[in-house]
Amino acid sequence: MAAPTPVGTAKLEIDGVVHELPVVIGSQGERAIDISRLRAETGYITLDDGYGNTGSCVSDITYIDGENGILRYRGIAIEDLAEKRSSFVETAWLLMFGKLPNEEERTRFAALLSDNAALHHDMNKHFDAFPANGHPMAIMSSMINAMGTFHRPRIVDDETFLLAAARLLSRVRSIAAASYKASIGEPLIYPRPDLSYVRNLLHMMFSVPYNEFEPSHEASRALNLFFVLHADHEQNCSTSTVRMVASSKANLYAACSAGVSALWGPLHGGANMEVIQMLQRIQADGTSIPDIINQVKDKKSGVKLMGFGHRVYRNFDPRAKILKKAADDLLESMHVNDPLLPLAKELEEAALADDYFVERKLYPNVDFYSGIILRALGIPLDMFTVMFAIGRTPGWIANWKEVNDNPEQRIYRPRQIYTGAPDQLWVPRSQR
Ligand code: ACO
Repeated sequence: MAAPTPVGTAKLEIDGVVHELPVVIGSQGERAIDISRLRAETGYITLDDGYGNTGSCVSDITYIDGENGILRYRGIAIEDLAEKRSSFVETAWLLMFGKLPNEEERTRFAALLSDNAALHHDMNKHFDAFPANGHPMAIMSSMINAMGTFHRPRIVDDETFLLAAARLLSRVRSIAAASYKASIGEPLIYPRPDLSYVRNLLHMMFSVPYNEFEPSHEASRALNLFFVLHADHEQNCSTSTVRMVASSKANLYAACSAGVSALWGPLHGGANMEVIQMLQRIQADGTSIPDIINQVKDKKSGVKLMGFGHRVYRNFDPRAKILKKAADDLLESMHVNDPLLPLAKELEEAALADDYFVERKLYPNVDFYSGIILRALGIPLDMFTVMFAIGRTPGWIANWKEVNDNPEQRIYRPRQIYTGAPDQLWVPRSQR
C-alpha cells in the first residue's frame, strides 16, 4: 500500500496564524488535506459527524467514483466482472490478494473452501440454543465470533491468512444455511465437496435428506452475480467497523462478526429486506405511487424510500443497474411473474422524475432490485441481509488484511467535541 503522493499544501488560518497542511492525491486523482498533524500543531481537531468528509484510511482495494457511478475492485470495473461472469471465489481472491488467481491458485482456493465448509460438530449444537424465530443476522454474528473459540486464527503470513480466510468465507455459508434450517425445523444438511460455492449454499439451504435440491444454471448464476456485486464497497459502515476492530489487533473472526452487526441495520444491508417489505405494503394497501412519493418527501412521516439514496453515489449506483437487468433476466428464465418487479420499476420511474429526488441526487442503490432476485431464488426475507453478509465477507477479509499488514497502523481512535455537563460533584443517593 503506497502512501498517497503529496502534491502541495493547503493553508488554514486560525486566530491570525497560518498553518500549512499537506494536500495528497490518490491514484485516481481524488484529493485530500492531510490533517494528521493538525491537533499537535494547532490544538484543533476537525468535526465531521457521520464522516461524510473524512478519509479514514489509505486503501488499494476498491475504488468508487460516486459522481460518475464507477465501482472497481483492484482496478477492475464491476461491469467487467459481471459480463465476464467472474466467479465469486475468484473475485474474493482478487480482493484479498490484489490480482485474479491463476489456475493453480484458484483450484487450491476452491479446494480449501471445500475442505473447510463443515462446521465443527460442537458448533452445530449452538443452533439448537437460539430461538427458532431469532434473526439470522444475530445468529451469524454470534457464530462467526464463536468460530474464534474453535479455531484461534494465528495469522503470521499469507499461508496462515489464506487458511483463516478460506475457513471464514466457507463457513459463513454453512452458518447461514444451518441457521435457516434451524429456523424451519429441518435437519442440518452437510456441504458437498463436489459443488461450487454458490451451488453448495443452495444445496445446504434447500436439500432435505430425502431430496437433493438441483438449482438451475440461471439461479446459481444470478446468486453468483449477487455475491460478486456485494463483495466490497470501500469504507461503508460495516467495512469501517471491521477496520476499526482490526486496528485494535482483534482477530479476523471478531472483526468480521462486528461487520455483520453493522451491516444488519436498515440504513445499510438491512435495506434489501426493507425494500421488499415496503413493496409488499404498497401492494397490500393499494397505496398509489404518487401517495408513496409524497409520503417519503414529507420529513414528518419518518418514512424513506428504501433502496434509494447513497452517501457516495450522487449518480446511479452501477450495481443497481446490473441487478435490475439480472432481475429481468432471471424472472424471465424461470417464468416467474413477480408483481413486485413492475411495482419497483414504477416507483423508480416516479422517483427519478420528481424534483425532490433529482435535487438531492437520489438514485436506486444496490438494495432496490436485489431482493427481487433473492425472492425468485426462494430465499426467505429474513435471510436477505445474511446473503448480503456472505457476499461482503471477501471485502471485510481484504480490509482486515490491509489493516493487519500495515506496520504503521495505529489503533482507530477518533476524537469528539464534548457538549455535556461541566464539572459536577457526586451526590449521595439520599440527596438526589
Ligand atoms: N428517501 C427519502 N429521502 C431521502 C432518502 C430516501 N431513501 N435518502 C436520502 N434522502 C434525503 C434526506 O432526507 C436528505 O434530505 P434533506 O437534504 O432535505 O435533509 C437528503 O436526501 C440527503 O440524504 P442524507 O440522509 O443526508 O444522506 P446520507 O448520505 O446520510 O444517507 C442513506 C444515505 C442512509 C443511504 C440514505 O439515503 C437512506 O436512508 N436511504 C434509504 C435506506 C437504504 O436504502 N440504505 C441502503 C444504502 S446502500 C447500502 O448500505 C448497502
